[in-house]
Amino acid sequence: MKEIIRGNIIDAPALGELRCLPGGCLVLEDGVIREVLETLPEGAELPVTDYGDCLILQSFADMHLHGPQYPLLGTCMDVPLLEWLNRYAFPTESRFADPDYAREVYAMLAAELVANGTTRVVMFSSLHTEGTWLLMEALERAGVTGYVGKVNMDRNGSPVLQETTEQSKRETLRWLEGCGRFSRIRPILTPRFTPSCTDELMAWLGELAGERGLYVQSHLSENTNELAWVSQLHPDCQRYWETYAKYGLWKDHTVMAHCVYSDGTERRAMRDANVLAVHCPDSNTNVCSGIAPVRRMLEEGVWVALGSDIAGGDHLPMLEVMSSAVRTSKVRYMTAGDAPLSAAEAYYLGTTAGHRYFGAGDGFAVGDRLHAVVVDDSTLGPKGEMELPLRLERAIYRAKREQITAVYSDGRKIKGR
Ligand code: GUN
Ligand code: FE
Repeated sequence: MKEIIRGNIIDAPALGELRCLPGGCLVLEDGVIREVLETLPEGAELPVTDYGDCLILQSFADMHLHGPQYPLLGTCMDVPLLEWLNRYAFPTESRFADPDYAREVYAMLAAELVANGTTRVVMFSSLHTEGTWLLMEALERAGVTGYVGKVNMDRNGSPVLQETTEQSKRETLRWLEGCGRFSRIRPILTPRFTPSCTDELMAWLGELAGERGLYVQSHLSENTNELAWVSQLHPDCQRYWETYAKYGLWKDHTVMAHCVYSDGTERRAMRDANVLAVHCPDSNTNVCSGIAPVRRMLEEGVWVALGSDIAGGDHLPMLEVMSSAVRTSKVRYMTAGDAPLSAAEAYYLGTTAGHRYFGAGDGFAVGDRLHAVVVDDSTLGPKGEMELPLRLERAIYRAKREQITAVYSDGRKIKGR
């Protein structure tokens, strides 16, 4: 079916660049963008959904978050990362051994993602196989697309949250077997981080990733105590990234969250391998990690996108993650001199840079299935002349789920009438 969606279109074809089409049109055929037009074509006989003076933005891609930490969201931020994992994150994740609990919590999480316009994710589950399937099911049912990983952790966990190496291998294979039934959510291999996985497990996962062409997600250089720990565990490695590289886990489309302490060498290794660095500004501050050198990564050609990292991060809505990225970049500007991010840059990082992971083009690209949100910003301030870039900036700082009146994911409308 062909149709037209009309409104004030703003997309981000490149870092810091906006394309603004007041009263513009997206021509869709079966959910695929066929044309992007400045005006409604005269005499067009297609059905038109006219969003009037609302903004039509790209939907959001959350490239790093932990589904089973959703119950922790907004609480327990009183200790730094490694203590936080042991004291709060591990016990919280352990509850997802219970399928009834998992079903209930994951339905809430999926609904909140949709309400806030996040249509693509790269997400950690817990180590539980059934729980991970339930997470995938909840996301798929709600209309969220992307990758979810059953976590692997066979050391340094807790009595309530750890596998043996054999269990971890066996359950990973069993989990993968059950993933065929999902169409919009795919599996991604997920060694939690180097301290959580024995060399044997890392090597096995690297081989599996190679054999089956699976992507990999993990954490990298988030915290100084973690870095010291990784050096002790892998004295043969000069830098953290090598602990993944030596087992075949460092490759095209590997997702590495944080990269706060990645130096020039590590950043070059990211760029050369086409590894995605996910910047999680709220988590960087909440668990006192430090603020990732996003500007430097961008200048050096590293692929960077944004993540909420709930529940180290306290904001699930990506609009809020974008404003946090701008705000924390100013802290880096004040402390390290790196040029801060603009709102337009944050919008690019929260949309196009993430959507690329899934093979999408830049901005609203012809040939892509539509991922979009409609923002009614009429209640965000007095009416009056305001250019579209300023309205986008205001939406990033001020819009909540109430202002997101429609959401399109993979060509289908999943929120709004
Ligand atoms: N490193 C290993 N696991 C985690 C986690 O759950 N959250 C964060 N922020 N960092 C991690
Ligand atoms: Fe994380």
